[in-house]
Amino acid sequence: MPSNIVVLSGAGISAESGLQTFRDSGGLWEGHRVEDVATPEAFANNPGKVQYFYNLRRRQLQSPEVQCNAAHSALADFERRWPGEFCLVTQNVDDLHQRAGSRRVLPMHGELLRSRCSACAALATCTIDLDQHSRCESCNSIGTLRPHVVWFGEMPLYMDEIEQALAACDLFVSIGTSAAVYPAAGFTQIARSVGARTVELNLEPGHTAALFDESAYGAATNIVPQYFSGLLAQAPR
Ligand code: OAD
Repeated sequence: MPSNIVVLSGAGISAESGLQTFRDSGGLWEGHRVEDVATPEAFANNPGKVQYFYNLRRRQLQSPEVQCNAAHSALADFERRWPGEFCLVTQNVDDLHQRAGSRRVLPMHGELLRSRCSACAALATCTIDLDQHSRCESCNSIGTLRPHVVWFGEMPLYMDEIEQALAACDLFVSIGTSAAVYPAAGFTQIARSVGARTVELNLEPGHTAALFDESAYGAATNIVPQYFSGLLAQAPR
């Protein structure tokens, strides 16, 4: 029985909540070029376009149709009931894990509902549109707020904590990610190198499918509750 679990989630876990993934057919990167909306250079060259892209996503995330689903809830429930160590690393910038009640969440690609000031680095809750006239409440600068999301070419967040969690884990479960983006795509290999059992729960095999000891393919709302209730059944009472 594992005692130390690290879960990595990706866009697939939120797909059934109505949020587009990135690389599936109809995904976000089909309609938008990464270089136009998700790099520091894009923001420097055309801040309005980049803000608009994230404004739409922020609005959608707060629309009543978007709610956490059975997969998010299963993870939160598991964390509450599991007696061992549990850490949830997510590549998602939505807040659906937190809404479901997950406690130890490391959002390595940032959070859509937060802004960051390029002048003073202050983080703030952000539920409204940002533009070149937005004012930082901490330093009063105008036009310096950006979404607190990690763009291509920037360093993901919480890397020290994630590396520590991976070094100590004996079970690593990857959920709803294509494993196309590093460093997250490399976590399975790190987990293997410390002797952890590795599991992929996804709609279809991702790029690193060969590295998993076990896999289940299907919709996250089916396979995630199923897998984690099976694990709970093994927990000592
Ligand atoms: P992708 O769009 O690359 O992959 C989504 C994965 O979810 C695919 O493997 C799908 O098969 C799977 N999937 C789709 N629907 C599903 C469902 N209902 N149940 C289970 N799985 C499902 O998204 P990520 O791997 O999360 O980064 O992408 C990683 C990063 O690339 C993102 O965080 C983002 C993006 O560029 C940044 O913006 C920095």
